[in-house]
Amino acid sequence: MTPHINAAKGDIAETVLMPGDPYRAKWAAETYLDSPRLVNEVRGMLGFTGTYKGNPVTIHGSGMGMPSISIYANELITQYGAKTLIRIGSCGAMQHHVKVRDVVIAMTATTLSTPSSGILKELSFAPCADWGLLKAAVAKAETMDTGTHIGNIYSSNTFYDERPDLNELMIRHGILGVEMEAAELYTVAARHGARALGVMTVSDHLLTHEALPPEDRERSFGDMVEIALEAAFA
Ligand code: HPA
Repeated sequence: MTPHINAAKGDIAETVLMPGDPYRAKWAAETYLDSPRLVNEVRGMLGFTGTYKGNPVTIHGSGMGMPSISIYANELITQYGAKTLIRIGSCGAMQHHVKVRDVVIAMTATTLSTPSSGILKELSFAPCADWGLLKAAVAKAETMDTGTHIGNIYSSNTFYDERPDLNELMIRHGILGVEMEAAELYTVAARHGARALGVMTVSDHLLTHEALPPEDRERSFGDMVEIALEAAFA
């Protein structure tokens, strides 16, 4: 047990999918896993373990923002032996060719700072995805009719952003979308020798202000879960 996870040691699989929303963890586990069972609910952060095509998988909420995912990723890797961590979440599109409902696979994650910045100090560390996971996710996505984009994303520390100049810089540097977790997940995984990837569904558009209608959310998010699960066991 850890301060934030009360699962027994063997209750967490080596492969962990991490949506921000604990209720999405419940939905994904009940939809995609065989025999899902609740393994954590400390602070309402639900985690479920089951199997996917016979392979053990945990789907565990990360909460919102890098401090939150940092806590769960650290504990899952160092205390429970997680070896593959895949964020499944939403992002806001920052380019016109990236459309609402598309999937963004984050090769790298740019950020102003992460909780790890205090450890890395003057080092401008480049958080990047695990190559094997990235390659497998792209291969799976290419078999689907989902619009897919692979590249750099922006892991922001704010949802209510008061710096339009920053977004403008990100857009001008080809950033595909903005979310709030991947850079720290990639950094923590790198520090502890785990594999990490972020697969995000575009839920809203910063340029067109379009948003995914609630009735489309489930199907769109499902594509991302399938990509993540297939990548994990490719
Ligand atoms: N900002 C930050 N995170 C997000 C956004 C956004 O616009 N959309 C989805 N996740």
